Amino acid sequence: GLKKKEVNVLCLGLDNSGKTTIINQLKPSNAQAQDVVPTIGFSIEKFKTSSLSFTVFDMSGQGRYRNLWEHYYKEGQAIIFVIDSGDKLRMVVAKEELDTLLNHPDIKHRRIPILFFANKMDLRDALSAVKVSQLLCLENIKDKPWHICASDAVKGEGLQEGVDWLQDQIR
Ligand code: GTP
Ligand code: MG
Repeated sequence: GLKKKEVNVLCLGLDNSGKTTIINQLKPSNAQAQDVVPTIGFSIEKFKTSSLSFTVFDMSGQGRYRNLWEHYYKEGQAIIFVIDSGDKLRMVVAKEELDTLLNHPDIKHRRIPILFFANKMDLRDALSAVKVSQLLCLENIKDKPWHICASDAVKGEGLQEGVDWLQDQIR
């Protein structure tokens, strides 16, 4: 058959936001891990969509590992940035990390698509995707295509919409 186009994606966001859970759900069921544990350093994962073959750098969001992220920025052709919509206290930390990412020389002048997941929408006190995008000032991102989806990574809800958008940006 036709070979799918290969795309490197960086999966970024604070620890406990749900990055590994999201990537795990996107993998074929026979490749999915039974339980997800906090990522140490980073992990390389793969999943496919109808036209693309994604290689994901699933980075740890723990403070002590965040300095690893920038070493992979050059390789990344797309970014998935995950936010825990229930973690209001650390929304400002998520914004700081996002701003640092957007101002990095390897990202700043590139028209790289960014897919945001406002994850954990199932939590009773979760902020809406609109509220998350306001708190992160996403409307200020003018030089890159971006999109935000509410998701529940445990149930797998909202993920397909996001990945469909990402695929459209790359084709
Ligand atoms: P690091 O690897 O430490 O950076 O964390 P991570 O962003 O990869 O988070 P991970 O996927 O390990 O998920 C952290 C915890 O949140 C796990 O207990 C998940 O089951 C839980 N979780 C992930 N997504 C959701 C969600 O949509 N809703 C709820 N309620 N829990 C979620
Ligand atoms: Mg992880």
